[in-house]
Amino acid sequence: MEYILKHKDVEVAGLSFNDKNIIDNIVTVYNKDHFPAGVVQEDGRIHVGRIEDWWVGRGIPGERERFYEVLKEINVKNKNELLIKSFGISLTDHYWVCPKDVHLKWKEVNFYENDFSFDIGDAFFYRSKKDTYNLRAPDNSSDGKLIKRWSVIDGKRMLIKGGSSGNYQEPFNEAITSSICQRLNIPHVKYDLLYEDGEYYSICENMTNGEYELVYASHIFEALYRNINDSFYRHYIKCCDKLNIKNIIDRLNKMMVVDYIIANTDRHFSNFGAIRNSETLEYVYPAPVYDSGTSLWHDKNINDINENGIIGTKCFESTHFAQIKLVTDFSWYDKNKLVGIEDEYLELLLKNAHFEIERKKRLALALRKRIEMLDAFIKSSRPQNIS
Ligand SMILES: Nc1ncnc2c1ncn2[C@@H]1O[C@H](COP(=O)(O)OP(=O)(O)OP(=O)(O)O)[C@@H](O)[C@H]1O
Ligand SMILES: [Mg+2]
Repeated sequence: MEYILKHKDVEVAGLSFNDKNIIDNIVTVYNKDHFPAGVVQEDGRIHVGRIEDWWVGRGIPGERERFYEVLKEINVKNKNELLIKSFGISLTDHYWVCPKDVHLKWKEVNFYENDFSFDIGDAFFYRSKKDTYNLRAPDNSSDGKLIKRWSVIDGKRMLIKGGSSGNYQEPFNEAITSSICQRLNIPHVKYDLLYEDGEYYSICENMTNGEYELVYASHIFEALYRNINDSFYRHYIKCCDKLNIKNIIDRLNKMMVVDYIIANTDRHFSNFGAIRNSETLEYVYPAPVYDSGTSLWHDKNINDINENGIIGTKCFESTHFAQIKLVTDFSWYDKNKLVGIEDEYLELLLKNAHFEIERKKRLALALRKRIEMLDAFIKSSRPQNIS
């Protein structure tokens, strides 16, 4: 079956899909500039494997909690079938696929302006089963492991996200990270707690809109071939410079500091990126800090909470000890702005019924200790006065 890959209404390429709804070929190239970032290589050649990966990566990942249960409930064979039923439309970027010979416009199909179904999101959130499911939803193309659903509140597109079974701590971590960013004046997606059906979730506004879309760091990373001598960090800066993404060093400094404080173990290359205008293709700014919930020992028992231990990052370096050394400037950082943050965290955690008070207190203390460790690092890395 042939579809036209579109970026809003710009025709990008004719794509053939196999019977498993996976792209098996690029039939025609209409507009190279508008291919998803990273698909066209530095030398101008189209990397067919990357467009296939891009499509598959667009669907709900198999590790999403309750994923196979939900597919069964809604009677859909696999994630690609689910994806194609909503033309791959998301609320994060402006790509979609339109069946060849069907004449549809972005204005008629996009979810920024048009209503969408809540059925898939509801199915993930254990809401009551239906006889038939309306599959026109941005939930079919939402990334990430945690259960989540898009909703509309007062006309705003809002993402509601759960925690992982066990401690269900991620929504609380999102909320405290928002507060840290707010206090330090770091651009961020603001997450609040939402209490619904006896459980806490995080809720945030869409960081994109009908004009601006999110491009993942993993796709930005493909803008240039990596010189074997360049670190991931150095290479990423070079790619951002090539794409003219401004302010990147400052914003990465801030992200790495926040991640150090919260001991974020999951800042992989889809958990940061940049925002661009989907018509001019101009990058306007690095994406605000988002998806910081996999942090603060969310999956650890009280005895395994160790603020001094080796903590992985999945980002530019493998540990925070190594990564914090990449921060080029701390002059903007004011630790006084974080006074009392551990009490604020404890107050949030007290709402969580899934684990005991001792662990909550230990987490609040660990957060304070990370701030002190950062302070010690900053002091030790200042040039010493040699007299
Ligand atoms: N505020 C937002 N506005 C627009 N798109 C968003 C927003 N938050 C998340 N997304 C999109 O949804 C995806 C999944 O969200 P998120 O990364 O928060 O989920 P997750 O389940 O915690 O992910 P992970 O698997 O990285 O832990 C993001 O990668 C991004 O594409
Ligand atoms: Mg994520």
